[in-house]
Amino acid sequence: MRFAKRLDQVPPYLFAELERKIAEKHRAGVDVISLGIGDPDLPTPQVVVDALAEAARDPGTHQYPTNHGSDEFRQAGADFYRERFGVELDPASEIVPALGGKEAVGHIAMALLDPGDVCLSPDPGYPPYTSGPLFSGADVHYLPLRAESGFLPDLESIPTDVLARANLLFLDYPNNPTGAVVEPGYFERAVELARANDLVVVHDNAYSELCYDGYSAPSFLETPGAKDVGVEIFSLSKGWNMTGWRVGWVAGNAEVVERYRQLKTNLDSGMFEALQLAGVAALTEARDFPREMSEIYRRRRDLMADALQRIGLAGSSPRATPYIWLRVPEGHTSESFTELVLAEAGVVVSPGPSFGPSGEGFVRISLTVPDERLEEAARRIATSLRVEAGA
Ligand SMILES: Cc1ncc(COP(=O)(O)O)c(C=O)c1O
Repeated sequence: MRFAKRLDQVPPYLFAELERKIAEKHRAGVDVISLGIGDPDLPTPQVVVDALAEAARDPGTHQYPTNHGSDEFRQAGADFYRERFGVELDPASEIVPALGGKEAVGHIAMALLDPGDVCLSPDPGYPPYTSGPLFSGADVHYLPLRAESGFLPDLESIPTDVLARANLLFLDYPNNPTGAVVEPGYFERAVELARANDLVVVHDNAYSELCYDGYSAPSFLETPGAKDVGVEIFSLSKGWNMTGWRVGWVAGNAEVVERYRQLKTNLDSGMFEALQLAGVAALTEARDFPREMSEIYRRRRDLMADALQRIGLAGSSPRATPYIWLRVPEGHTSESFTELVLAEAGVVVSPGPSFGPSGEGFVRISLTVPDERLEEAARRIATSLRVEAGA
């Protein structure tokens, strides 16, 4: 058999590799604690589950949906954006369902990029910001995220010849994997850059509802002019513990929304109507649920950040996202530290370079396990470091 070369262009998907390692340890009888994957451990709100069950019993939901999405779903998304962000969206033309944010990232890249184009992707970044463009035949130009710049790409330092070929800029704040939040004025600069260089900005807002310490993440679409140059991807996955459900949307610039929808009419047949009704229930009846989740992650963040500090490790204390971006101890690479904690502590963390070369020197810790497992993980990491130090 011969397979398309595009699949060889991207490294094995990070989490597939992690899952393999976890399975190996499980087979060896190790009680593995996985802090590798950002998959919420707690259930979806009951009203959402009930709404799905009820909708699924109605044969009216059983046929092909449309890629436009139902009126109710688009209206609920638009209402949510107005109430939460003060952003007005025309439900008829400026919002369309996505089967999760990941699908949207990949397909928007396909809808916008031709071979020879450049996609500007954060490094470290969510892996589909690289694979989506590569599958489209485009080149990826990494925008390094450095601690000293608040993990925000330096938009002024992108070479002119790269900008001339670039057609798409991915941004995501609150950020995966660094947990960084956007600085005031940054989105404005992104809009200016896009205007000056005919770029489309795709802001991925997967984590806006998981914020701590009084912080409330903005939408990119709040930025004046944002709708002229881009779209935002929103997902119910993280805020409402709905990763398995695949419910989200793309909103903003009507032309981009329409092109994305057109592409999808050739590839998928839209979101199950019953899921759209469950999504409406999440946005209306479980509107405050992400706030409850945020309180749980805040507690876990404090617990882990304190434990890491006691061990002498320099972890971030993020104001949003369920991720701690941890600098590995002196003498370690991301890979050697990941190997150490897996081998000696049975703890899985994500090595920074799996998110791009600038992730070297870091690992990502996901707070999506119960408190007592986090405490246990911290204890075991401390022991493995003491063992390594010969203490
Ligand atoms: C930055 C970012 N965007 C999008 C997603 C995808 O979320 P989903 O496809 O579940 O909506 C993730 C998941 O981890 C993410 O980290």
